Amino acid sequence: MATYNQSWARSCMCGEVSKESVNKNISLLGWVQRVRNIGGIIFLWLRDRSGMVQVVFNQENLSEDIYAMAESLRSEYVIGVRGEVALRDESAINPEMETGEIEVNVSELVIFNAAQTPPIYIEDDAKDNEAVRLKYRYLDLRKPSVQKTLFMRAKIISAIRNYMDSQGFIEVETPILTKSTPEGARDFLVPSRIHPGECYALPQSPQIYKQLLMVGGFDRYYQIAKCFRDEDSRADRQPEFTQLDMEMSFVEPRDVQTVIEGAFNSIFTKVLGTPLSLPLPRITWKEALERYGSDKPDTRFEMYIQDVSDTVKECGFSVFESAVSAGNMVCGITAKGQADNLSRKQIDALTDYAKTYHVKGLAWYAINSDGTIRSSFAKFMSDESLNRLISDMDCKSGDIMFFIADKRITALTAMGQLRLKLGKDLDLIDTTRNDLFWVTEFPLFEYSEEDQRYVAAHHPFTMPMDEDFDLIDTNPHIMRAKSYDLVMNGIEMGSGSVRIHSSDIQERMFNMLGFTKEEAWKRFGFLLEAFKYGTPPHGGFAFGIDRLIMALSGKESLRDVIAFPKAQNASCPMMATPSSVPEEQLKQLHIKFELD
Ligand code: AMO
Ligand code: AMP
Repeated sequence: MATYNQSWARSCMCGEVSKESVNKNISLLGWVQRVRNIGGIIFLWLRDRSGMVQVVFNQENLSEDIYAMAESLRSEYVIGVRGEVALRDESAINPEMETGEIEVNVSELVIFNAAQTPPIYIEDDAKDNEAVRLKYRYLDLRKPSVQKTLFMRAKIISAIRNYMDSQGFIEVETPILTKSTPEGARDFLVPSRIHPGECYALPQSPQIYKQLLMVGGFDRYYQIAKCFRDEDSRADRQPEFTQLDMEMSFVEPRDVQTVIEGAFNSIFTKVLGTPLSLPLPRITWKEALERYGSDKPDTRFEMYIQDVSDTVKECGFSVFESAVSAGNMVCGITAKGQADNLSRKQIDALTDYAKTYHVKGLAWYAINSDGTIRSSFAKFMSDESLNRLISDMDCKSGDIMFFIADKRITALTAMGQLRLKLGKDLDLIDTTRNDLFWVTEFPLFEYSEEDQRYVAAHHPFTMPMDEDFDLIDTNPHIMRAKSYDLVMNGIEMGSGSVRIHSSDIQERMFNMLGFTKEEAWKRFGFLLEAFKYGTPPHGGFAFGIDRLIMALSGKESLRDVIAFPKAQNASCPMMATPSSVPEEQLKQLHIKFELD
């Protein structure tokens, strides 16, 4: 093992060696990717974060010591070499390798450190199991594709900072040790040593602080903010993640959207080289639900949902008729040209799939391309209604239609999920497209069957739309909010809203959400009080940086775009966290665990 000193300073990075360096002496530092010893000559691939280059040890030109050292090299040794760059023979050119036309004939070698055989392959297409990859994340990080994604991440964050700075936003850090911020997930709690029996909460977002910054007169705030949410991990959720969080004073929704569009345009231009066409399209929540059965629709394929309630209200098929007469709906989609592709077994599997979204069944009608008809309901329906349905749904030879009868949102949501499944299974999604657009005018409240009360659809600080204000006492469930989501390729990238800036309205909102006046003041008194001292109208937005990078890099999971992610079960296999703590430490925190 050698220590490093300046005499070994690299003259360039491995991936930068090119034909221009031929006949020049260079020095390189890096990791051994692989070694091939053909007796008398050793070919070695040297890797650093910029790429790889072949270096060659020729016994004839080297001292015995250096050649013996070269023979001892194994994968992942950390070495330095000096040598002359040469063109490879025509027959030895490696077109797969960026530096495949040249190699370095080594004259000097230093070994900084040896390496045991790594437990995972440090290669992009290695098929190691994820648990092992995460346990040895520091080795996984050496893979070119992982590094590439993290470089992209840094570039995106830098583009965001530059853009926000250029728009007059000021970056302010907000506390990590704080109080519960309601974003709909569970809090991570940090017990206090100094205040026995009391806890801080880690922020689910900087929501309340950024609003208080507006009260504090900052006008335009942003932060690359760490957020913590104790919810079940999924591919698109991590317990700890990063947002671009921002807030502005004196705005209506469009002003916030314009800034965010600018930030995205800057990211797309700098990172992908393709500017966006602005302004982005907008669709209301109601339209999104009616057309796609989702508030984050994947618009990269058509197959729109249609409301056929009127057509089937007296059709003879009792499932449809009774749904319509009960005030529910019947909605349908037509999968063009897919009738012959779907067997009865596959249709039954689709029915089971739809049922997981709380509907009772799936009715279907297929016109095979040979003209034969298959259907679960045609025999119950009058010819006249059937013909109208076929015509309404534009169902032609080779097409198959699906219908769901249920309560409006339930039917549309299940149909939306079925649409998405068909889109994926039948390969209908144009994955070369990036569809980025706004969904606006979300409902202000959602009714939680579980809690038997209204909950805020976005969060409790969202302002109702002016025209819906008077519905608060009579019809709160149809009130719309000044809130908006940014959706890309069927993924919710971010959310925001114009906020309530009056103490009275905020108090009413808490009241609607089931807080008594005392409870509201106990939990959010500081905010209700702050609003009494001259609060400007304000609004903002936050988008998930991890999710954006996942979408732009085409990765399947957030774990691929975070340097040290948590595993599916919220643990970190590398550091073995969470972990037990010494009794003494618990005592200082006044904590005793009672495990069942
Ligand atoms: P919201 O809760 O919708 O809004 O979060 C904004 C965005 O953050 C990302 N995100 C996540 N990313 C990874 N893992 C998670 N567990 C996770 N949860 C959320 C998503 C999401 O769209 N304070 C409000 C914003 C505002 O009103 O200004 C908020 O946090 O991309
Ligand atoms: P049944 O009369 O219950 O045998 O249903 C006839 C057809 O209607 C079957 O294909 C069922 O899957 C379908 N079906 C039943 N309930 C619904 C529903 N709520 N929406 C759509 N189709 C349904």
